[in-house]
Amino acid sequence: MTQNGADEGMPEMITLAYADSTPDLVLLLIHGFPLSSRMWEPQLAELGYHARVIAPDLRGFGDSEPVDGEYMMAELADDCMALLDALGLDGPIVVGGLSMGGYIALELVRQQPDRFAGLILSSTKAGADNDDAKSGRDATIAKVAADGIDPVVAGMLPKLLAEATYESDPDLVDEVEDILRASSVEGTMGALAAMRDRADSTAMLPTIQIPTLVLHGTADRVIPHAEAEAMAAAIPGARLVLIDGAGHLPTLERPEAFNAAVSAFLGEIAATLDEA
Ligand code: MLT
Repeated sequence: MTQNGADEGMPEMITLAYADSTPDLVLLLIHGFPLSSRMWEPQLAELGYHARVIAPDLRGFGDSEPVDGEYMMAELADDCMALLDALGLDGPIVVGGLSMGGYIALELVRQQPDRFAGLILSSTKAGADNDDAKSGRDATIAKVAADGIDPVVAGMLPKLLAEATYESDPDLVDEVEDILRASSVEGTMGALAAMRDRADSTAMLPTIQIPTLVLHGTADRVIPHAEAEAMAAAIPGARLVLIDGAGHLPTLERPEAFNAAVSAFLGEIAATLDEA
């Protein structure tokens, strides 16, 4: 030991610059109804270069706790932000949502327009439910209360994917059914109420100031791609990517095309943040 306490033969401590493979940018991916984070598996596997990807299971879905009662979009949005807070992630966030997840992403941007570095809207729309759609939600809630998740699986499974996928990729159909069946009765009923009561986001679209990517499958039979075209036209500077042949779940049906578009978008945002 020398007098100043440094071990002989040990290098002098200096400050090193370093590269870190965990990016600062967070990509928060919010799933659709009645799905879970499993619908983002190809994105969790591939998009980690530009952003740390966090995909929650919303309350009552996947492995998250079922909570009784009617949910509100604002609550589902708060749950996602509480998760990021609990993980200590207070840096820049790109928020992305598919279908119901898109309704939640729009709710987040409405609540905290300055909190996000980018927005991704997939297979979703800005408008609220009309009276017929609201009655349909109530009828489905009553069916789920009486018969469990089966009526929702029977109603949604045949239209979630592009028509051709049911013949060409039966394994994917089984996988999607498995994801649907993992949804709790509480979560399904709660989220149906949240979708029924959601705000109309059409008027806020021209006020969105952050880079926005709108993605939609050309063979989506749940929400027509005209909705994506209308949103992209209304959001200043938004980029529209239509994914050929994909149905309502392009994340699983055309992961290469979906990931390529998101990766390019994240790369541009990451570059802007590096410059700042
Ligand atoms: C979804 O895929 O999240 C839902 O079908 C959207 C909706 O029912 O409005």
